[in-house]
Amino acid sequence: MSKPLVLPALAQFVTATAGRNMTKAAYVAVASGVGMMVVLTVDPAYEAAHHGVDAVLWACQAFFVFEWVVRLRHAIKREHGRAYVLSIRGLVDTGAAIAVPLAMMLGVSPKSAWLFGVFWLLKVVPGIPGLRQLRRVLVLESGPLLSVLVIFLMVLFMASVAEYFLERDVQPAGFSSVPAALWWAVATLTTTGYGDVVPITLLGRVVAAIVMICGLGVFGLWTGILATGFAAETRRDNFLKTWESVSKVPFFAALGPAAIADVTGMLRTMDLPARTTIIRKGQVGDCMYFIAAGEVEVDLPGKKVTLGDGAFFGEMALLGNNLRSANIVTTRESKLLVLDLVDFRVLMARHPDLAGTIDMEAKRRGLENK
Ligand code: CMP
Repeated sequence: MSKPLVLPALAQFVTATAGRNMTKAAYVAVASGVGMMVVLTVDPAYEAAHHGVDAVLWACQAFFVFEWVVRLRHAIKREHGRAYVLSIRGLVDTGAAIAVPLAMMLGVSPKSAWLFGVFWLLKVVPGIPGLRQLRRVLVLESGPLLSVLVIFLMVLFMASVAEYFLERDVQPAGFSSVPAALWWAVATLTTTGYGDVVPITLLGRVVAAIVMICGLGVFGLWTGILATGFAAETRRDNFLKTWESVSKVPFFAALGPAAIADVTGMLRTMDLPARTTIIRKGQVGDCMYFIAAGEVEVDLPGKKVTLGDGAFFGEMALLGNNLRSANIVTTRESKLLVLDLVDFRVLMARHPDLAGTIDMEAKRRGLENK
């Protein structure tokens, strides 16, 4: 009886599994599988619920095998089975499907074999938001990051040799060789400071102090490089998104590419759901808005005016007495371009034609409202 209902749902699920990195079911399987793997290592908890824990682990394992088979079949049908198997996604899927059963078949005890389930976590990686941005930042900033890494390794090695030379006679256990001193150098330069090996000679401590300061400097440099890279990347992303919206607004259409780029740098996009209040009457105005897509309603005494794609609002407070003259609410989901007061002044100075249009419309609205 239920066949006609179950089959389309299953087909839909198979299609989603084949096409997407992570379905909701996959997230549930990863979370519950890894959770149960952790429970397995807590003896009292596992003893109390081992049937349930085993059942969940086997269910997750079965799900990952199912996912792997579906994707492999899908890739083979489209004649890129080899590409899928050799891709990172394919390797992760294969690992998730076979690591635990393979370990068991090779004689590893089930309790140890299930620990390979930790690799299921890797399935989530492609779905992490911002990962592509992180990769771009790492690639773009690879030069400076590598330079700092080289400095890090140089300080590490020089400090190990120095401490070996200064401490080996008084502490043969901790500084018996350069590799042994390297352990101290890594713990110190990374500011971990386990304190299991500590220089005790005066000169040894001076070197240690220098190494600690270098450690702070190195990590400060890395953080700075990455933060700047992220900021630049986010700016570029925002610029592209804003550019797309600006070029669709007829108000800016007459501008040349250079002027559009100039204006784009001044605007930021804002996505709002329906029924969101954007402007309240009587508040101090510090920005104006252009509607890239959507619709807003201006609540004026005795009437309501609707503004749609391409219109602008919020200019009167910036040109007049600073106070908002009406309430404005979105009537549907809208994308707005926001121009802050400082940039408004710059825009008015740099683009007199736009300034004229805004000024004229503000005057017309002022007269209409009288
Ligand atoms: P501001 O006064 O900053 O905030 C309210 C905004 O409503 C105002 O700027 C104008 O942009 C807009 N507005 C006021 N009156 C009208 C009108 N008659 N028609 C369209 N928009 C208006």
